[in-house]
Amino acid sequence: MKDLKFYLNKALKNHFALGAFNFCNMESLQAIVNASLKTKSPAIISVSESALSYMGEDFVMALAKTAKKQNPALFLHLDHGKSYEICKKAVDLGFDSVMIDASALDFKENIKLTKKVALYAHKKGVLVEGEIGQIKGVEDNVKADQNIYTSPQEACEFARETGVDMLAVAIGTSHGVNKYSKNPTLRMDILTEIERLLPSLPLVLHGASTVDERLVETFNNFGGQLSKAKGVSEELLIEAVTKHNVVKINTDTDIRLSFTSETRKVLEENKKEIDPRKYLGKGREKAEQILSAKIRNVLFSAGKK
Ligand code: G3H
Ligand code: 13P
Ligand code: ZN
Repeated sequence: MKDLKFYLNKALKNHFALGAFNFCNMESLQAIVNASLKTKSPAIISVSESALSYMGEDFVMALAKTAKKQNPALFLHLDHGKSYEICKKAVDLGFDSVMIDASALDFKENIKLTKKVALYAHKKGVLVEGEIGQIKGVEDNVKADQNIYTSPQEACEFARETGVDMLAVAIGTSHGVNKYSKNPTLRMDILTEIERLLPSLPLVLHGASTVDERLVETFNNFGGQLSKAKGVSEELLIEAVTKHNVVKINTDTDIRLSFTSETRKVLEENKKEIDPRKYLGKGREKAEQILSAKIRNVLFSAGKK
C-alpha cells in the first residue's frame, strides 16, 4: 500500500523530501493539490491547531477528502499538536499523521506525552512526529524565543522511548519571515550525528521557508511592510535533503507570502475590484507556481508519486 510510511521510506532511500505544506483555506489547499499534480509528487497537507479551528473540522475533512481524491499521494497531517487531546481528535477524525509538539516541556515530560500519543495513534495506524530541541519563532500556537539545538544523544533516547515515526530537529531554522539577521546557516553536524545513531529515522525540518526576496519586494511595493525578512537558502535545504535523512520539509510562510503578495498586487492595481475570485485566484496561482518550483528544484519529489 502506498501510504505515508511507504513514501517516507522511499524518500529516505532515494534522498528526496515530502513537502509538508500548510493550508488554511480552500485556495491554499488547491495551490498545493495543483502543484503536486503538475509535478506528479507526493506531499503532506498540514493543518495547525489554529487552522483547524479557523476552518472547522468538518470543512478540513471534506477539503482533505477532495484533495486526496485528486491526488491519492497526499497525506493529512496535524502540525504542532500541543496536547494529547488534539492529537487524539485528529487521529479519530482520520488524519494520516499527527505531530505532538511537547518540545517546550522538559525532556522526560516530552517523552511521556509523546509516547502516550504514539501508543494511541499507532493502534489506529496513524504515524507520529515528535520534536526535541526548540525551533524559534512566533506563530499563533508556536512560540519559542530562541533556538535550542537538538542533542543527538537525546534524539536517540527519545526515538527509542517514544517509538515516533518522524523526528523534528532544531538545527537553526525558525518559523516565520524573519529567520536570520545574517547569512543563513544550518547545523549539518547535528544531522550527521543523529544519522549515525539513528540511521533509518525520518527527520523533519520545520521553519524551512526560503522567503524569496522577489515576493517580499512585491509585498512591500504594494503596501506591505515587511522588514529584514530572510529565509533559509535553497542550497542548505538541498544539502539537508540530498546528503542527510531529512524527508519532510515544513513550509507555511512561503505559501502565505506568495499568496498575499500577489493578492496585494491585484487589489492595489484594481481599486474597483470587489470579486474575491479575482484576487484569491491570482494568489492561488502564485502559490502554486512557488510550490511547483520548490518540489522540482529543492525537494526533488517531482515524479516520485
Ligand atoms: O509552524 C506553524 C505554522 O506556520 C502554523 O501557524 O498556527 O498560525 O497556523 P498557525
Ligand atoms: P515556515 O514558517 O518556515 O514556513 O515553517 C512552517 C512550519 O514549520 C510549519 O510547521
Ligand atoms: Zn513548524
